[in-house]
Amino acid sequence: MPGSFAKAWAHADGVDGWLTQPQGRALFDAATKVPAGRAAIEVGSHRGKSTILLASGLTDGVTLTAIDPFDDPRWGGGPESLEIFKANLERAGVTDRVELHRGLSKEAASAWSGPPVALAWIDGAHDRDSVLLDIDGWDRHLVDGGTMLLHDAFSAIGTTRAVLRRLWWTRRYRYLGCERTLVAFRKEQRSPLGALTDAIRLSPRLAFFARMVAIKLARRRGHQGLERLFMRGENEPLI
Ligand SMILES: C[S@@+](CC[C@H](N)C(=O)[O-])C[C@H]1O[C@@H](n2cnc3c(N)ncnc32)[C@H](O)[C@@H]1O
Repeated sequence: MPGSFAKAWAHADGVDGWLTQPQGRALFDAATKVPAGRAAIEVGSHRGKSTILLASGLTDGVTLTAIDPFDDPRWGGGPESLEIFKANLERAGVTDRVELHRGLSKEAASAWSGPPVALAWIDGAHDRDSVLLDIDGWDRHLVDGGTMLLHDAFSAIGTTRAVLRRLWWTRRYRYLGCERTLVAFRKEQRSPLGALTDAIRLSPRLAFFARMVAIKLARRRGHQGLERLFMRGENEPLI
């Protein structure tokens, strides 16, 4: 049985990371839908915030494979990262639902011999080529009807470019929706009209993205007034 979201968030909230509570809820809910005999995978675990939320939502017998090299200094990785990750999972009581793959997503996807994947959560490196490798690598293992979730779409430039390239105008995925910069797609065959409808539904996120880039530029150039102006309303921490 999945645990409760409130309990999962109580543990995850204290873990260093970038997820908002509604995004955590979206992960937890997606995990509850993974049926027995299927797998869930996570690219990019950091200290385990999203790992705890996903693992807490899984039904008994379903395993989350958490993939991270735990050594990337850009994300605070280093010698102690893996130990902190394990301790956080232990405290949340989800260790037995998580299988660890210490390494890169690309290698994990090529070597995958687990059950077909019903949920792929992609939150690893945020440059365009890495995200494309993540999408393509796990697309091969994702079942029809499976869910692909990505973080930092429309706030990180590389992630946004990869999402636009593979998932914006496609007949292979249905756009489900966004929770701020967490974007959700379901793998299913789309008619040309369905693909067009999805692309139109996603388009307003480009205005959000433009504002995120404007905030980033204003911050870099030290224009605090402009930064404050653009920061009004919905925004995400910028990467
Ligand atoms: C944004 S953090 C992940 C945050 C995490 N999902 C959370 O909720 O706190 C990105 C992580 O991706 C990892 N990473 C970077 N490139 C990767 C790759 N190619 N494959 C797997 N993990 C990667 C980094 O080591 C880092 O821990």
